[in-house]
Amino acid sequence: MSEKAEGAQPTNAEEEVSLLADQALSILLANDSMSTTLSGLFFCLSQDERVVKKLTASILDTVGLEPPTWGQLGTLHYVRWVLQEGEKHCVVFNARVANKNSTLPTGGGTNGNSPVLIRKGEIVVFSTWARHRLGKDFGENPDEFYPERWEHLSGDMIGFIPFNKGPRACPGRKSSFPVLGRLLTPMQSIMP
Ligand code: HEM
Repeated sequence: MSEKAEGAQPTNAEEEVSLLADQALSILLANDSMSTTLSGLFFCLSQDERVVKKLTASILDTVGLEPPTWGQLGTLHYVRWVLQEGEKHCVVFNARVANKNSTLPTGGGTNGNSPVLIRKGEIVVFSTWARHRLGKDFGENPDEFYPERWEHLSGDMIGFIPFNKGPRACPGRKSSFPVLGRLLTPMQSIMP
């Protein structure tokens, strides 16, 4: 998003078009990532009766058959774990184009401990999907759809990158939870 979009009022038609384009892009980015995350999550749930039963019971216990209030959403811990597990499990790739010659700190050389040169204009694609399954920082079973892992993990942990990290990280991260939570909670009335 351009700097102009941050609170500035357009002073001419060209700026207004640019602002509207920025806003439209935000809506598109939000829609795509929310819908792909939800599709992946519902696929995982369709394969996992144990999690669906536990999710349904946890929603019924806390809010019954009514839609949750904003306040109640914050107390639905299992809903949060399921959403975070969906983000861990289903977000796939991200990429960057180098705007100047640069280096990655490690990954080069025969042992992978040397820096890697990235020339201006080169594209670095990285797999969020693989990062969420590598090593032990997600526990012993990183491949499994297992929401309970979030009892001991934080959404701010370094290796959890569905929204990426840094200055261009997703600005919709915080607002996505209540929306996804509201979409997930009607499960209590449609599941057996
Ligand atoms: C599950 C939901 C979502 C996921 C997984 C997600 C993921 C992402 C990712 C990976 C990026 C790129 C960040 C980067 O590469 O540095 C991004 C950017 C962005 N997202 Fe989201 N997003 C979600 C929801 C939302 C929502 C709800 C909004 C708006 C309300 C939103 C608005 C944006 C915008 C405007 C950008 C561009 C930021 C920039 O380039 O500076 N996203 N999102």
